[in-house]
Amino acid sequence: MCGIVGIVGDRPVADRLFDGLKRLEYRGYDSAGICTLDEGDFDRRRAEGKLNNLAAVLADKPLHGTTGIAHTRWATHGAPVVKNAHPHIVGPVAIIHNGIIENFKPLRAELEAEGRTFESDTDTEVVAHLVAREIEGGAEPRDAVAAVLSRLHGAFGMAFLFRDHPGLIIGARHGSPLTVGYGEGENYLGSDAIALAPLSQRIAYLDDGDWVVLTRDEIEIYDKDNQRVEREIVLSGASAASVEKGNYRHYMQKEIFEQPIVVAQTLQSYVRPYEGKVALPDSDLDLSSIRRVTIVACGTSFYAGMVAKYWIEQFARVPVDIDVASEFRYREPVLEKGGLALFISQSGETADTLAALRHAQEEGQIIAAVINVPTSTMAREADIVLPTHAGPEIGVASTKAFTCQLAVLAAFSANLARANGRMSEEEEADLVDRLQKVPEIMNEALDHDEDIAAMAHLVAPARDVLYLGRGPDYPLAMEGALKLKEISYIHAEGYAAGEMKHGPIALIDDAVPVIVLAPSGPLFEKTVSNMEEVRARGGKIIFVSDAEGLEKAGEGCLATIEMPKAHPLIQPIVYAIPVQLLAYHVAVAKGTDVDQPRNLAKSVTVE
Ligand code: G6P
Repeated sequence: MCGIVGIVGDRPVADRLFDGLKRLEYRGYDSAGICTLDEGDFDRRRAEGKLNNLAAVLADKPLHGTTGIAHTRWATHGAPVVKNAHPHIVGPVAIIHNGIIENFKPLRAELEAEGRTFESDTDTEVVAHLVAREIEGGAEPRDAVAAVLSRLHGAFGMAFLFRDHPGLIIGARHGSPLTVGYGEGENYLGSDAIALAPLSQRIAYLDDGDWVVLTRDEIEIYDKDNQRVEREIVLSGASAASVEKGNYRHYMQKEIFEQPIVVAQTLQSYVRPYEGKVALPDSDLDLSSIRRVTIVACGTSFYAGMVAKYWIEQFARVPVDIDVASEFRYREPVLEKGGLALFISQSGETADTLAALRHAQEEGQIIAAVINVPTSTMAREADIVLPTHAGPEIGVASTKAFTCQLAVLAAFSANLARANGRMSEEEEADLVDRLQKVPEIMNEALDHDEDIAAMAHLVAPARDVLYLGRGPDYPLAMEGALKLKEISYIHAEGYAAGEMKHGPIALIDDAVPVIVLAPSGPLFEKTVSNMEEVRARGGKIIFVSDAEGLEKAGEGCLATIEMPKAHPLIQPIVYAIPVQLLAYHVAVAKGTDVDQPRNLAKSVTVE
């Protein structure tokens, strides 16, 4: 899983390749590298760690040349050290690669038996050797690549540069996305339209199995059977402007505070305030015919899906199955033809979710997708796109995309409830009224930023933290724990409050902060009982509730956070804010890299 960018140009490429890498950093930031062709030979710079390390190397030893490839890595095979950083060079071939070559071991053994030696621990270097072997045997680059592609298993996107063929790049995709950009006297290759946005808006998405030959004047695309094909050229619309942090210290902080605006933007597509109706944008979907919904997602998007399961079942009385994508695809789920499968993804590129989407498509499901990046693969492959309008999310830990997903899912649940005769016109009008006020309520929640910052020192020294909630606050508890793990590296678990007594209660002592999410309402007393069980064992509680809840049960807690009271279809959107802010401030207190935490990536494009 990595980012790829290539330019066959008529002007120096190093700076522009580096800019492309900055746009692709969301795919990984373990190491990075650039290789250009300069005066008949490869010239390469690589660096471990974040891109600023590569920038320093380039400042010290600039790269020249008008054709080059560049890569930002998320390590799969081989530690994130310079020798494993891409591009890899073997004789006349340089390669960058995203994905995994699953049969690299037998291929490596075959090459080693021939006396070939390897410089890295990567699966990628095997491909470089295979292509180099073909070329050294007299093959032309395109024949060499075509021959090698047929031997590779797995999912990959890759790009090759050839020492003896200046002005040529060959790219190939199988599973992982790859895009070509059309320029004037230049052509481009990239993992996505965003990487290419400043270079070209005229792009074509390669189909699975396609490979492509780029020269300055031409782009030739071939399919998996090596037949020349045309792929539609579209205007990408991806923004070339880089996103700035403004006055905020971190992107994550900025994105947390943007939420009232972007949730309002998102809801605009889903409510008709003057008619008092909720509606899905541009959808011909007959909601009344839906008998079952299957929700699939990963990470934070999965927790948004879990909240939706509570909503859809409670309000629309339609049964919902939910799976993490990596399990769904391989557990042979039983799917009735014509069912609705709902995929949730910020990036629209997560490999497991995409594979699950394709599986559901093969099984005859109607595919709906809640997606933030409109140019993404999932947005292109779904039957119905339910967009979130969160704008680019840069912080690796998802925040604004999550609340926008919840806003869309709340509207979807209400639509389904209405279509099934489970929501009256009055109830619908009332909900629309309340949805209109969501940004205001979110601002009220954000007003607690300073109080929450002041609590960070209560959590920062902990080794373990427990989050408890019931109903839709249970997935929120898991999301809170995930946020804390991701950015502060503290072990945290989100638990259904009632389930605590079946295990996690053994962990409770005065060193384990327990964060309880419990708005007043039908489940309040039950959660408070579980909270008392924690208290009885010396546990330290941070209690998040509304004024009524705090009045009833706030006494004796280590700290309390007061949230405004809200409709059940809105309340999880509001309670997301304190858990995000708490994780953020704890991470800041611990001095971790909030926006690019270790080992993670924004978009996970390997299985
Ligand atoms: C990665 C990110 C998470 C995200 C998950 C799913 O793990 O670090 O923040 O929730 O992928 O991503 P998606 O783009 O499919 O929502």
